Amino acid sequence: TIAYVPNKVKDMSLADWGRKEIELAEAEMPGLMSLREEYKNSQPLKGARIAGCLHMTIQTAVLIETLQSLGAQVTWSSCNIFSTQDQAAAAIAQTGTAVYAWKDMTEEEFEWCIEQTLFFGEDRQPLNMILDDGGDLTNMVLDKYPELAAGINGLSEETTTGVHRLYERVKAGTLPMPAINVNDSVTKSKFDNKYGCRESAVDAVRRATDIMLAGKRVIVCGYGDVGKGTAASFKGAGSIVTVTEIDPICALQAAMDGFEVKKLETVIKTADIIITTTGNKDIVRGEHFKAMKDKTIVCNIGHFDNEIQVSWLNDNYGDTKNTIKPQVDKYTIDGKDIILLAEGRLVNLGCATGHPSFVMSNSFTNQTLAQIELWTNRDAYENQVYMLPKYLDEKVAKLHLAKIGVELTELEQYQAEYIGVKVEGPFKPEYYRY
Ligand code: NAI
Repeated sequence: TIAYVPNKVKDMSLADWGRKEIELAEAEMPGLMSLREEYKNSQPLKGARIAGCLHMTIQTAVLIETLQSLGAQVTWSSCNIFSTQDQAAAAIAQTGTAVYAWKDMTEEEFEWCIEQTLFFGEDRQPLNMILDDGGDLTNMVLDKYPELAAGINGLSEETTTGVHRLYERVKAGTLPMPAINVNDSVTKSKFDNKYGCRESAVDAVRRATDIMLAGKRVIVCGYGDVGKGTAASFKGAGSIVTVTEIDPICALQAAMDGFEVKKLETVIKTADIIITTTGNKDIVRGEHFKAMKDKTIVCNIGHFDNEIQVSWLNDNYGDTKNTIKPQVDKYTIDGKDIILLAEGRLVNLGCATGHPSFVMSNSFTNQTLAQIELWTNRDAYENQVYMLPKYLDEKVAKLHLAKIGVELTELEQYQAEYIGVKVEGPFKPEYYRY
């Protein structure tokens, strides 16, 4: 094990501010708050030692305190070096929770923070649950501390990229515990990835650059869930949006949604802003940087920074790098300036505050239900990747209706029979795609 460090955050004097923001967020997170109410007596997470690795924001603070109010002990790190909100981390640390997170850390500090979360308290009890976003905590446990795996009930994974890594492990036979794919709950990827990015993509570029977005030419690389939300975000701001895709279905969707669909090479010369959303690597490369016009803004909203060849920029034009403010850097390529945001890391958490609370409540209600399921029902699962059942997906949605005044129509018995469902749901077959 490793020596006990109770917590490490940037500045404890931010805790009061953080607490006030957490209280405001709670009012926007009805799913989490109703789980607190539903489970306050039964304490289903009692005995669980959950290590979490997920952007240490205000919304995540509400998740952490929900897990605790259901009986869990929690340790936490952030899954990105730029994504922590220091006031949120301070408020969580102030309650005595073992949080290791601050905005703008080095890669070494990032690893150090994750490592601290593996052992709990002064008696150094190892984690017995993983809650991950992107798979870095999972990889740390399975690659560096494989002896801990046997004591872990299971893991829940937040995002597309992390889920992708899990399915690869299943294929390779290297997943030693059951996992729940939270991302592909409908109330996660079709809400957080899409409507979340619709709010936070533009927010990030505005906070970073203050640029007028109306009339600007924006290229969105990828038209999956994140791409759909991101393209809508810029369209809503009055930008002229072009999409790139490799998948004919998503390319056709983009076209039907009214976007021009082109190859990056075709439109790069006139782009004002380029944003990658693919979860793939090497989307914006050296030759693209060379073709950009003066003052093009380049950023990524996918999970990892390898969508943009930042290393090419640093290797070839690193001497021209000029930091305008934290997470906003100017490079000069053959006389033309390029503005790179958040060093190519996910821009909505690097340059803004991530998605709004309401949409994160949907994601995190799925996370909490996944943790309860794996902790209380371990024996029902093999070492595979599972999704939450549809009735729970529908429950998550249902918990968010009243807050925004939604009236849900109820089926008559004969109508339910006519379409082949139960009056109380599930309302759709598994193959329905929303
Ligand atoms: P997705 O799989 O739905 O979409 C990715 C799309 O990119 C696909 O349609 C794919 O065909 C396309 N694509 C792949 N290679 C491409 C290429 N070379 N050129 C153009 N298009 C290409 O995945 P999703 O859910 O949209 O997630 C994308 C990334 O965003 C992942 O890394 C995910 O973890 C991350 N994410 C980030 C969030 C944030 O708040 N910043 C929120 C949720 C997910």
